[in-house]
Amino acid sequence: MDALQSIDKSRLPKHIAIIMDGNGRWAKERGQDRIYGHHEGVKSVRDIVNACGEIGIDYLTLYAFSTENWNRPKAEVDALMELLVNTLRKEIDELHKNNVKMHVIGDLESMPTICQKELNEAKEITVNNTGVNLILALSYSSRWEIIEATKNIAKKVSEGTIIPDEIDEELFRKALSTSDFPDPELMIRTSGETRISNYLLFQLAYAELYFTNVHWPDFRMPQLIEAILNYQQRERRFGKTSEQIQKHNKPA
Ligand code: IPE
Ligand code: IPE
Ligand code: MG
Repeated sequence: MDALQSIDKSRLPKHIAIIMDGNGRWAKERGQDRIYGHHEGVKSVRDIVNACGEIGIDYLTLYAFSTENWNRPKAEVDALMELLVNTLRKEIDELHKNNVKMHVIGDLESMPTICQKELNEAKEITVNNTGVNLILALSYSSRWEIIEATKNIAKKVSEGTIIPDEIDEELFRKALSTSDFPDPELMIRTSGETRISNYLLFQLAYAELYFTNVHWPDFRMPQLIEAILNYQQRERRFGKTSEQIQKHNKPA
């Protein structure tokens, strides 16, 4: 049985979030410039988006550029912004043909105008698509997002639209940039680092975390399938006991 067949379609994560890490190290290991690694990383993005469509994953969030990444050398930041624009221009027709719906989370206003323009166009073109929801996290950090949400809620309180007692989990979720998406059940980070790096801190509260030593440019469909199979072996207890979960899962 091939690996794809061994995935249990009834227990797929609806939403997978990925920290695409290791482009720079991948390139250096090959005696190349870090930017070469980012270019190769785009091929993995293409492969993983297609794989999600084939497997039946509804939401895929990719951490493409963090708030902290602005602190990298200017040449690398510029190269990443240029790569983003060129990739969107090159891939948008294919994404649209594949029924992918594009979304963006993060502090878009801090991005170069040309990036904002391409991103808005990509969103507009794909707005009615019904396949994989591809969410790009750009100039994103979770602390930024949580603070923005808090500011918006505080504004509503001061305007008198809501009272503090109305602030609950549901209201807070609605104030986040991910309000249209379910929480990720599976978070994957490539390249051996075992940290969250300011990614979806609220949304990942109960996600299964999967870390692999594979660098992002080498992370393709077989590695994604491996991660999903690993996820499917786990027992998600949400605070309950194993016995409670097994009783609930037993066929009547
Ligand atoms: C991830 O790869 C891509 C971005 C953060 C933009 P890195 O560029 O972080 O690669 P390493 O971690 O330095 O190898
Ligand atoms: C996290 O990767 C951000 C992205 C993948 C876009 P980094 O490589 O920037 O994370 P740290 O700084 O090593 O934690
Ligand atoms: Mg890194």
